[in-house]
Amino acid sequence: MTKKTLFGAACALFAFTCVAAAEDGVATVDKRHAVFQKVCTTCHAMDNVGGRRTRAQWEDLLYKMIDLGAKGSEKEFQTILEYLSSEYGRVNVNRGSTSELSAVLGLTAQQAGAVVSHRREHGKYEDFSAFAKTPGLDTTRLEKLRDALSY
Ligand code: HEC
Repeated sequence: MTKKTLFGAACALFAFTCVAAAEDGVATVDKRHAVFQKVCTTCHAMDNVGGRRTRAQWEDLLYKMIDLGAKGSEKEFQTILEYLSSEYGRVNVNRGSTSELSAVLGLTAQQAGAVVSHRREHGKYEDFSAFAKTPGLDTTRLEKLRDALSY
């Protein structure tokens, strides 16, 4: 299988299983963490994931690890992607979808919807203080997630 085929297949698969994972919502953080530990610590320790990344960046990293020889089922890689992008995610508040905003920042569907309508009506958020003014957000909690936000 060429690299291109593998990446193409993995992409399609990731997109498909992402929807499935979001729908069933069964894998708890603990279960996701266990899969991550099992697949990702065979070559190196994973005490430090090296900081937050966007979902797309985590996906790129997983492809890189697969290329380097990481072994796991497609479902396991999908679970790891969910785990990393919610626990160590970063989201662009001007471009992230409602599901990305919810996954990374723990926003309710209503709060994520408020972010999307706010930026549509008022334009781009320039910084944290602009973002924090979105009605309905818990700014005290978001304050702790500043490093998960990009603009
Ligand atoms: C087959 C062995 C192997 C497995 C399994 C493996 N890795 Fe790696 N990983 C490597 C090697 C080799 C490097 C160093 C290569 C480099 O940095 O270019 C690396 C480097 C990394 C880095 C630092 C480099 C970067 O690009 O940020 C991260 C983060 C990482 N791995 C995460 C993971 C995750 C998450 C998993 C589980 C999906 C995983 N690794 C599974 C071999 C592996």
